[in-house]
Amino acid sequence: MKSFVQKTRRTTLIISILLIFFSEMYAQPNGPALYQQYCAQCHGTDLNGGNAASLIDGIWQFGSENGYITRNIKHGIPHLGMPSYERSISDEDIRSVVQYIRAAEEDKGVVKPPTPEMFETMDYFMKVETFADNLEIPWAIDFIDKNTALITERPGRLRIVKNGKLQSEAVKNTPKVLHEGQGGLMDVAVDPDYNRNGWIYLAYSHVLENSQETRPPAMTRIVRGKIENNTWTNEQVLFEAPHETYRTTRHHYGCRIVFDPWGYLYFAIGDRGAGYQAQDFTLPNGKVHRIHKDGSIPEGNPFLYDESAMKSLFSLGNRNIQGMAIHPETGQLWTTEHGPMGGDELNLIESGKNYGWETITYGKNYNGTIITDQTHQAGMEQPNLYWKPSIAVCGLDFYSGDLFEKWNNRLLVGALKYEEVRLLQIEEDRVVHEQVIFKGAGRVRDVSTGPDGAIYVVLNNPGKVVRLAPE
Ligand code: HEC
Repeated sequence: MKSFVQKTRRTTLIISILLIFFSEMYAQPNGPALYQQYCAQCHGTDLNGGNAASLIDGIWQFGSENGYITRNIKHGIPHLGMPSYERSISDEDIRSVVQYIRAAEEDKGVVKPPTPEMFETMDYFMKVETFADNLEIPWAIDFIDKNTALITERPGRLRIVKNGKLQSEAVKNTPKVLHEGQGGLMDVAVDPDYNRNGWIYLAYSHVLENSQETRPPAMTRIVRGKIENNTWTNEQVLFEAPHETYRTTRHHYGCRIVFDPWGYLYFAIGDRGAGYQAQDFTLPNGKVHRIHKDGSIPEGNPFLYDESAMKSLFSLGNRNIQGMAIHPETGQLWTTEHGPMGGDELNLIESGKNYGWETITYGKNYNGTIITDQTHQAGMEQPNLYWKPSIAVCGLDFYSGDLFEKWNNRLLVGALKYEEVRLLQIEEDRVVHEQVIFKGAGRVRDVSTGPDGAIYVVLNNPGKVVRLAPE
C-alpha cells in the first residue's frame, strides 16, 4: 500500500505535466499577431511587400540568415525607414516573428484570391475590369483625354494606355530617378490646359550624383515636359530644393501634384524621416508647396515676407502626404497623409497653417514607442478625420462624373494596407459618412476619376490598374 503522501505527490506530478502539456498546446505563437501589429503596414499583410520590400521573395538585401534578419528587426535600418524594435518587442518575440516569416517564405505567403469581377456598394453594383496589367509598382494615373492615360511605374517608367491598350514601350528619356526605399518616379499630372500647351508634370526622387558621400543625398523634385514621338522633351525644372537640404534617407518623399481653379500648382514633400524638420520653415520637407505652373512663386504665398522661410511653402507640419485633391466646386485643397502607427490624417489645407507634425499626432512610432502624448496645441490644426488604426492612406480624388451620379463631390480615399477604396461624404468641411466601395484586390496606390466617369484604381501586388463602372 502506498502512503497517502506518495499518492498526492504522484497526482501533483501528473497534474503539472498535464498543465505544461496543455499550456504548450494552447500557447499561441506570437509571430503572426506581432507581424500584423508592427510589420504589415510596410511589408504587407501577406508579407509580399508594399511600402517596404517583400519578405517572402527570397531576396534578402541585408542578409538571409536568421541572425541577420533578427538583427535587422532589433536594430532597424534607420536610413531606409525600417524602425528598430529593440525597445518594443522582446528578443523571444522577435525570434517568433522570424520563425513566422520563415514559415511564410516556405509557403510563399498567403495565396491571393483573384480580383473580384463584381462589387456591391450601398448605391451601385460595380463591375471591375482590368485596364492595364503587368505593371511594376505603378504609382499614379492621369488622363490626357478620354482615350489616353498616363501611368507612372516607380522604378522610373512613364507608360501610356492608348484606346484601352497599354503601349509596350515606356516613354523614352524621362528623368533618371533614384529607385530605392520609397523613392522613384511618383506622380504624373496633366496640365488642365493640356490641349493648348501640352505640358505634363512629374514628381520623382532626385539624387545628387556627384556627391562624395557613400549614400548620396536625395529629395523630391518637380519637372514638366512634353511627350513627342513617345519621347520626353522640353523639360523644365519647376522645383528643386537647395542641395544642402537633401537627405540620405530613402523614405517619406511625399508627393502628389494638383492644380486649383486659379492655376496654382500644389505638391507635397514628406518629412524625409526627420519629423522635427516639418516645423522648420527654412526647409522643404514635411510641407505643402504652392507654385505657378512655370515654377515661379505666387505673390500671395503665406511665408513670402519671412526672410528665412522657403518662399514656395504653403503649409507646415505635414508628415508624409500621399493623397491630394482639389474640391471640384470650392477649389479647396484636401490631403491625406501617412501618420505613424494609428495617425493617418485627412486635412483641409489652408494657406500658412500648421498641421502639427511632429509636435502633435494621434499616432505612435511604428515600433510602438510614444512620439508625443500631445494631440492638440494652440496654433496647430486638427485633422478633419484620422484613422486609428492606420489604413495607410494613399491616393485621393473627388469623384466628378456621370457614371456614379450619387457620388459627385464625394472623396475617394485609397488605402495601401487595408487594400481598400473608401468613399467619404463631406458636409461643411466635416466627414459625415464613410463607406468602403472596393476591397481585396491589392494595395491601393492611387485612385482617380477618369474622363469617362469611371473610377480607376492603381494597385500594387499585383501591379495593375482596374476600372470600376456601374453594372
Ligand atoms: C515603417 C515601415 C516599416 C515597418 C513598420 C517595418 N519595416 Fe522592415 N523594412 C522597412 C524598409 C524600408 C526596409 C528596407 C528594405 C526596403 O526598402 O524595403 C525594411 C527591411 C526589413 C528587413 C530586411 C530585408 C532584407 O531584404 O534583408 C527585414 C527582415 C524587415 N524589414 C523585417 C521587418 C519586421 C519583422 C517588421 C515588424 C516587426 C518590420 N520590418 C517593420 C520598413 C519597415
